[in-house]
Amino acid sequence: MAVVDSIIPEAFKISASIEQRHYLIDGELRKWTGETTEVFSTISSTEVYQPTRLGSIPTMGEPEALEALDAAVKAYNQGQGVWPTMKVKDRVECMENFVKKMEEKREEVVKLLMWEIGKSKPDSYKEFDRTVEYIYDTIEEYKQLDRDSAKFQKNDGVYAHIRRGPLGVVLCLGPYNYPLNETFALLIPAIIMGNTTIFKPAKHGVLLITPLLEAFQSSFPKGVVNILFGRGRAVAGPIMKTGKVDVLALIGNSKSANALQEQHPKSNRLRLVLGLEAKNPAIILPDADMNLTINEVIAGTTSFNGQRCTALKVVYVHEDVKEEFLQKYSAAIDALKFGNPWDDGVKLTPLPEPGKPDYIQELLDDALAKGATISNQKGGQRSDNYIWPAVLFPVTKEMRVYEEEQFGPIVPVLSFSDISEPLDDMAESNYGQQVSLFGKDVYTLSPLIDTLANLVCRVNLNSSCQRGPDVYPFTGRKDSAQSTLSVHDALRSFSIRTFVAFKDNELNNETIEQLLEAKVSNFLSTDYIL
Ligand code: G3H
Repeated sequence: MAVVDSIIPEAFKISASIEQRHYLIDGELRKWTGETTEVFSTISSTEVYQPTRLGSIPTMGEPEALEALDAAVKAYNQGQGVWPTMKVKDRVECMENFVKKMEEKREEVVKLLMWEIGKSKPDSYKEFDRTVEYIYDTIEEYKQLDRDSAKFQKNDGVYAHIRRGPLGVVLCLGPYNYPLNETFALLIPAIIMGNTTIFKPAKHGVLLITPLLEAFQSSFPKGVVNILFGRGRAVAGPIMKTGKVDVLALIGNSKSANALQEQHPKSNRLRLVLGLEAKNPAIILPDADMNLTINEVIAGTTSFNGQRCTALKVVYVHEDVKEEFLQKYSAAIDALKFGNPWDDGVKLTPLPEPGKPDYIQELLDDALAKGATISNQKGGQRSDNYIWPAVLFPVTKEMRVYEEEQFGPIVPVLSFSDISEPLDDMAESNYGQQVSLFGKDVYTLSPLIDTLANLVCRVNLNSSCQRGPDVYPFTGRKDSAQSTLSVHDALRSFSIRTFVAFKDNELNNETIEQLLEAKVSNFLSTDYIL
């Protein structure tokens, strides 16, 4: 059959493929002449389905990875580098320059978000705008942090001037589901606190970094941001093995996080900032407002096709309301619109990983073989780049979909008659990020909230789970996270308290006075940043 060009509206066409050949090391945008990897979108531009070739990226390996590491180590220069010793005001200025340049690339980045990871147009704009806002908020928060530390304190005859200092070299790896936002939510606080960084984009959502390379290159001193392309194991492994990384900042899965940590020879040197898997449950009590619950569970299970670490990945519904829930929820799922990211009103979009529909199918077949049924008519329907979310009931612990973080369109549902059942399951689970609790009676809710707050790190009342707003703490227990991220907390996760102390005597007091007057130390300063 002839291939018919083209089903893509003019505004969303990619005019030319992006043959990405530059990478950033030591302040230079170097030209790559080695092997390359092609980048495909699972979205078809032709009526007869075929993945669309978007371009290609360098396939880097150990030599380039070590060059990037050397550049970061050199820029940190054992804490003596230009960047880690720079005045806060000047670091802020560099970040402001960067974000202004980034804002100019909004349309380009958003278009690539849609093509590379299949995120809907409104969500792609949201990801970009939320990231820009995160950067501005981080700048403000950092200024406040600096203002609060621009002073001395005295205890037991000892003065102290306490600040937060950088940790050193940060290796930053982000996930494909938020290739811009989650990655920058690590990278930006790491940079602004005075660390030097090596950053490798996620496996999907790589080309969208291309329009920002020049902004990184021209906004920061050389070696502060180094950007590599290639497979994680080919570039991140060799870097970790050197033992020169001070912080591993990774949002992804615990297998990669464990493998990378194990390669680092000095485990006490290595700090970890990790956002990993989760299996956030929805718990629906008998008195839950069913319409509101359905809306929230739909958002929690299907936004970006369930490819969110905060997605609702298992639903517990009370026996008394299970029929009503299953019937209304199944109908609501089947009424969602599937289409390309730019289609109006689209809620379900192509899956960016070509193998994902097969994986979801495996979970589905396994559950069906073990006694579950599909509650919604369209559940499990396959197309070239999609599998319709199947609502599975009753799900048991023997099924893979109960245990594995599906990270895709499939919804396991269990019923309970005693609230201790979901609570026990959560206590046994390897994960502990968030929960959504649906109900009204305060005497039932109160003890539950008290318990759930100790099992996870965010209890969402009659609301789906989510990370935002980004000023709130984002973390998890057990295998779900290490360290806390938020505009406020991330600055702390990427720094350490360090201070100058001196005993109260004439010599010291005079020296400090002179030091402050001379304004030659960037650390020891009581200047108030405006
Ligand atoms: O993938 C995990 C993200 O942090 C989820 O963020 O809840 O804003 O979608 P979100």
